[in-house]
Amino acid sequence: MVYAHITGWGCAVPEKILTNADLEKMVDTSDAWIVERSGIRERRIAGEGESSATLGVRAAWRALEVAGVRPAEIDLIICATSSPEHIFPATACIIQDKLGASRAGAFDLSAACSGFIYAVHMAAQAIRSGALKTVLVVGAETLSRLTDWSDRNTCILFGDGAGAFVLQASRQPGGVLSAVLRADGSGADLLTVPAGGSRHPATLETVKAGMHYIHMDGREVFRFATRVMGSATQEAVAQAGLDLADVRWIVPHQANIRIIEAAARFLKLPLDRFIVNLERYGNTSTASIPLAVCEAVADGRIQPGDRLVLVGFGAGLTWGALVAEWSGPLAVQRRVRPGMYRLWAGLRSFLRRLARFFEGLVWGRKA
Ligand code: UT7
Repeated sequence: MVYAHITGWGCAVPEKILTNADLEKMVDTSDAWIVERSGIRERRIAGEGESSATLGVRAAWRALEVAGVRPAEIDLIICATSSPEHIFPATACIIQDKLGASRAGAFDLSAACSGFIYAVHMAAQAIRSGALKTVLVVGAETLSRLTDWSDRNTCILFGDGAGAFVLQASRQPGGVLSAVLRADGSGADLLTVPAGGSRHPATLETVKAGMHYIHMDGREVFRFATRVMGSATQEAVAQAGLDLADVRWIVPHQANIRIIEAAARFLKLPLDRFIVNLERYGNTSTASIPLAVCEAVADGRIQPGDRLVLVGFGAGLTWGALVAEWSGPLAVQRRVRPGMYRLWAGLRSFLRRLARFFEGLVWGRKA
């Protein structure tokens, strides 16, 4: 029997902080309103030169360092993102190149804010089936680039950041124990970036109408979220053959403190069993759960042997929950120094581009 363990974790956020006081100067809102209705006090915003891929790469290096995994040992990279670098190629391929993960397949997974849970489940399934040994899952976002900074309904909520897990095969029981993934596309229009895809290609008109920004029916999304968070948690816990009492921590998608409080009431659990950091980062979509996990591991709240529920919801509509036993790095561990591999990845990428250039010349002569 093979188990899929989370053996590495890392996160990265931009330096720039946007506070509620800053937002008061941009739209008709107030710190008091934002804190009361969402719990958010500040969020991070990507600077020039930062993007979903650069944040994802930073988080990935940290996760590889913790796991003691070399880039060439990665079999697959899944990047869950709602703000990819491009429609294509996949952000995961850009991350693959920057890591120099020479043996890895790479693809993006689009399930909005539930994407990280979907991706960890896919990674765990591939490992448990025996097909793959080491999978890197990244949740990376620069939602600030899709935000209409004049729309107070949305601009107060979102922030930028990235988180990453390394999952590895082991014969030792534990790791990802169960998962529940769900979707309801009848709610697709409740949270969407309407233009820029094949349905509404980007035109001057779509840009003038602001259709390349996030559009959201906040009240409907709120109602849906409060309905699914608790029930998905219960289902995943039951599927793992456990009771809620066997679970140490619930790590919810960090969208709104009121949604988390509603889930706590539904599950009859005190709020201190939930890991919450949304007051400092806002809603970072696919990055929110790994960011919360990383902080809780760093400050010692999450310990090896603890059972966690990761639970989230998002556009689609999608939602899901996953139960995992926290293992920490595998016993056999190597020291991995990102600096050296970063240099090698840069050189490798340059040499491949050079090789393609010369191949092009040779082909040109033959043709
Ligand atoms: O990852 C999934 C992403 N999305 C979510 O998780 C969103 C879920 N929804 C929410 O978190 C909440 O619905 C919001 C925080 C977005 C809004 O809170 P709410 O308590 O549902 O407010 P509301 O939309 O019902 O609006 C109440 C009032 C409205 O005024 P009227 O119509 O009652 O006069 C809004 O116009 O608050 C007004 N309002 C604001 N006032 C000050 C809306 N946004 C703001 C604002 N500042 N930023």
